[in-house]
Amino acid sequence: MFVGSYQLEDKVLDNIRHFLDIDCLDHNILKDIISQAIELKASKPKNFPSALGKTLALIFEKPSTRTRVSFEVGMLQLGGNVVILNDKETQLSRGETVADTSRLLSRYADIIMLRTDKHKRLNELAANASVPVINGLTDNTHPCQIMADILTFQEHRGNIKNKTVAWVGDGNNVATSWLHASTKFGFKLRIATPKNLEIDEAIILEAKNNGGKIDVFNDPFAAVADADCVLTDTWLSMGAKKNNSQVKNLLKPFQVNSKLMEAAKANAVFMHCLPAHRGEEVTAEVIDGPQSLVWDEAENRLHVQKAIILWCLGK
Ligand code: CP
Ligand code: NVA
Repeated sequence: MFVGSYQLEDKVLDNIRHFLDIDCLDHNILKDIISQAIELKASKPKNFPSALGKTLALIFEKPSTRTRVSFEVGMLQLGGNVVILNDKETQLSRGETVADTSRLLSRYADIIMLRTDKHKRLNELAANASVPVINGLTDNTHPCQIMADILTFQEHRGNIKNKTVAWVGDGNNVATSWLHASTKFGFKLRIATPKNLEIDEAIILEAKNNGGKIDVFNDPFAAVADADCVLTDTWLSMGAKKNNSQVKNLLKPFQVNSKLMEAAKANAVFMHCLPAHRGEEVTAEVIDGPQSLVWDEAENRLHVQKAIILWCLGK
């Protein structure tokens, strides 16, 4: 676990509702957030001015399109305001510490979201904040994305509990948050990653110890057998300091194409957090085909994050 339970308990005792990682939160809280997202999606935004007068500070230490726009639009729809901080335009880029930035922003804003390269910066932000902190992606995890993905699956195929989800590709931050989700939502997770790009063994073991029904493969066809949902992500995550051509060669056999989709259940859906690279991790015929849910998935970032914002605010 990247956020120690001591720290989480500490924050719960402080009554600060941080949304740091799926494995840190009670499954009832996660399910309530998804239910709230469904209600928000079905409602006209003006009926929920629940964040009126509140400000969300969004810090980006990495690029973003969906996360930035969905948080900004979501907060505005809830009646609140946003301040967007690109790290290069702040004193963070000149060495001001995350801790001091956190103390400062806690005086101005009601919630802080961070997208960062180093997970420990998220922990440092939360440890020094007197307002809730949301994880908007780190090198380790991407919890907001997986909440939107679970909502999307549920809309199309019903409750994800006892369903089979297959992850094919790099054992990255998105895969890790799926691993965390498997311990909370009761689905079977089958992970196929090439050797040297696996999710850390200790993280898999911890998820299994926490009740995750997880199987690990090196063969993508074995992983997608009986799958209700096939997932992948970019071959090269932002900030990856890996040898690009070597990584691409390792991942080529893990491309999600029609042949691989045919090995899953006939009504399996395909999801991808985006941005996608057609012809690399997924072919155009799959991502633009009838099994793909990627645009609903991207839209649901908006609805889920509104629900996360309201949960953070205690609404
Ligand atoms: N999926 C996702 O987080 O997209 P962005 O990088 O565009 O925010
Ligand atoms: N794994 C990707 C996700 C992008 C939303 C990355 O970290 O770049």
